[in-house]
Amino acid sequence: MSKVVTLAIIGAGSRGSIYAQYALENPDKAKVVAVAEPRKTYRDNLAKIHNLQDEMVFESWQDVAVQDKIADAVIISTQDHMHVEPAVAFADLKYHILLEKPMAPTEEGCRTIVKATLDNEIQLSVCHVLRYTRYTQKLKELLNSGIIGDVISMQHLEPVAYWHQAHSFVRGNWRNQDQSTFMLLAKACHDLDWISYIMDTKCNYVSSFGHLSHFKKQYQPIGASSRCLDCTFKNTCAYSAKKIYLDSFDANCTLPSGVHKGFLEVITPNPTRESLEKALLEGDYGRCVYDCDNDVVDNQVVNMDFEGGKTVSFTMTAFTDYAERKTRIFGTKGMLEGDTSSIKAYEFLTDKTTSYDIEASDPDSAMTLHGGGDYEIMRSFIDAIRNDDENEIVSGANASLESHLMVFAAESARLNKEVVKIDLMLK
Ligand SMILES: NC(=O)c1ccc[n+]([C@@H]2O[C@H](COP(=O)([O-])OP(=O)(O)OC[C@H]3O[C@@H](n4cnc5c(N)ncnc54)[C@H](O)[C@@H]3O)[C@@H](O)[C@H]2O)c1
Repeated sequence: MSKVVTLAIIGAGSRGSIYAQYALENPDKAKVVAVAEPRKTYRDNLAKIHNLQDEMVFESWQDVAVQDKIADAVIISTQDHMHVEPAVAFADLKYHILLEKPMAPTEEGCRTIVKATLDNEIQLSVCHVLRYTRYTQKLKELLNSGIIGDVISMQHLEPVAYWHQAHSFVRGNWRNQDQSTFMLLAKACHDLDWISYIMDTKCNYVSSFGHLSHFKKQYQPIGASSRCLDCTFKNTCAYSAKKIYLDSFDANCTLPSGVHKGFLEVITPNPTRESLEKALLEGDYGRCVYDCDNDVVDNQVVNMDFEGGKTVSFTMTAFTDYAERKTRIFGTKGMLEGDTSSIKAYEFLTDKTTSYDIEASDPDSAMTLHGGGDYEIMRSFIDAIRNDDENEIVSGANASLESHLMVFAAESARLNKEVVKIDLMLK
């Protein structure tokens, strides 16, 4: 099929710019033709990179939604609480939609989006990028081959990383539930969604515990400053903004912690040492991690009971290095261990272990984040539109709604300290 899919980017921040990169790398398949973004620098950057005509550059998604249809699809990558309205508006205009996760901060919002996309018969892909990685697809292939028999249980770890927690969930955009959403939805909806995809059956019950245990005023060292750059502990605190950002910049973003340029661009567009230092002196990201307005948890566990007597335990914790997610899947004939780039399969009959190393993504692509999931979800979305084949999308409306409901149920279980039955919520 020769169609080049045209795209409008709604929200040219961190995620929107990443997805747009796919069009640059695959001009025979996709082309960015419009952008809506209120922040001038980010808007101009994207418009320049994609060589957009002036009349296709907008300040807000509403400016696009009042036009006749100007593209085949929109990529909605605004902040969490700004997904429902544009998703419904663009679905009604019959745009196909790539929608950032979480779909919405409430169950009602998620249901509204799903209804609008199903009613309008458009393709919806929710950015559960982990489903699309080559690692996940290899894991699915092994499970489907029967190598470990029937899956009975799973352990899954989401190691957020100490500095990533500090960046996004203490100082940054997802620190405060009222301003964004709760931690399980913001960060671990990927994991519960992934678990649901791998278990491939319905989750019936959840329980959960979790706390904001560490990033609180009571743990601020005596004599510490409320901003890192003038703090006497700036060279001895693991969470110091100087250490995480300036030292990382000086080391050309190659610190073993995993801080990369994209994180610095969140702090200041086109970062230089001077602009970074200024942003850290004045902005959110230079604040002491013990003196912010954060309230989301830094550790949470969820237990899940799936149909057929299958169980899963999940742990999310801030207090790790920048490690990849780790999973053990236990079956009747063997077990699998995976860490997002390799899988070990142990078979009970032969007592043998087979190892598989998996390439993250297309080696020619710069879209390496999320184990190549960013690249693969774009490839699938664009192919689904080009080939008019919704089977390319494995994170469509119903699958995504189901895993979002698991997240809402788990958070309710945590808050109320009770076991929550999920099938009631699906009715
Ligand atoms: N799939 C993933 O792995 C993943 C990873 C990180 C973030 N996210 C999600 O992606 C979304 C965006 O996150 P981000 O890090 O790119 O945030 P961001 O703040 O960098 O980008 C959001 C952009 O939306 C713009 N915006 C605000 N109002 C707008 C309007 N009226 N019209 C158009 N644009 C508007 C903002 O100016 C901003 O540039 C969030 O929902 C987030 O939770 C997903």
